Amino acid sequence: MITLNGLTKHYGQDVIAVDDLSLSVAAGEVYGLLGPNGAGKTTTLRMVLGLLEPTRGDASILGHSVSTDPMMVKRQIGLVSASAGLYQWLTPREMLHYFATAYGLSKSRIADRTKTLTELMDLGRFLDRRCATLSTGQKQRVNLARALVHDPPVVLLDEPTRGLDVVGSQVVFDYTDLLRSEGKAIVVCTHQLDEAERLCDRFGLLHHGRLRYEGTLPELTTTTGCESLVAMFLRLLENKQISGSDS
Ligand SMILES: Nc1ncnc2c1ncn2[C@@H]1O[C@H](COP(=O)(O)OP(=O)(O)O)[C@@H](O)[C@H]1O
Ligand SMILES: [Mg+2]
Repeated sequence: MITLNGLTKHYGQDVIAVDDLSLSVAAGEVYGLLGPNGAGKTTTLRMVLGLLEPTRGDASILGHSVSTDPMMVKRQIGLVSASAGLYQWLTPREMLHYFATAYGLSKSRIADRTKTLTELMDLGRFLDRRCATLSTGQKQRVNLARALVHDPPVVLLDEPTRGLDVVGSQVVFDYTDLLRSEGKAIVVCTHQLDEAERLCDRFGLLHHGRLRYEGTLPELTTTTGCESLVAMFLRLLENKQISGSDS
């Protein structure tokens, strides 16, 4: 469903933010793209979304290449980003309408999606209040709903629990489980490894823009000899050679 092929991004002469990244994510799979701050996670998502041109390589969604068919790719993706703000002067209902219209949904389809997402994310009590007056948790639910307004087969989540409390984080976990059960292909970018272990089926460990290890937790444990993602990253950060396929 999602395929990255040698995706590379240089900033100027010195910074290689993403270095020859290849991976694929299937329908119904939650892929954790993990790495410390600066590892290249957001840069990768921005290239997949067509917001940033790769220096080399390509990404494709359902066979549509972002370099040759960027509009088609954008239509297939829902993005949840901690840094995406709400339009404070709009209500959640107006927000959903605004984004649905931007995606070209018909009037009846917009009404239908608004109803579905209002139930799904429990927006009913504040659907017609201005976003500026909502709590952090309520705003987050609007953001999660907004990402799904066009019912995309692919959902990308960039640090989705940043700034959220336990309840807010649980909403993200439930949301991700629901998307998986609906057969979406999902990428979660995070540096929070404990939550990644709860959320994701498969992991890619990114360090200085390079994919150093990839697999399920049991596979990674076999490859690295480490029991937890935290231990694997500590080894990577210490620059120690881990037995096996370290490159
Ligand atoms: N617009 C930019 N110009 C120059 N360097 C950038 C820019 N955006 C990101 N970088 C650098 O690219 C690297 C990867 O950043 P980013 O993708 O944001 O990492 P992450 O999301 O994993 O924290 C970092 O070294 C960052 O400083
Ligand atoms: Mg980031």
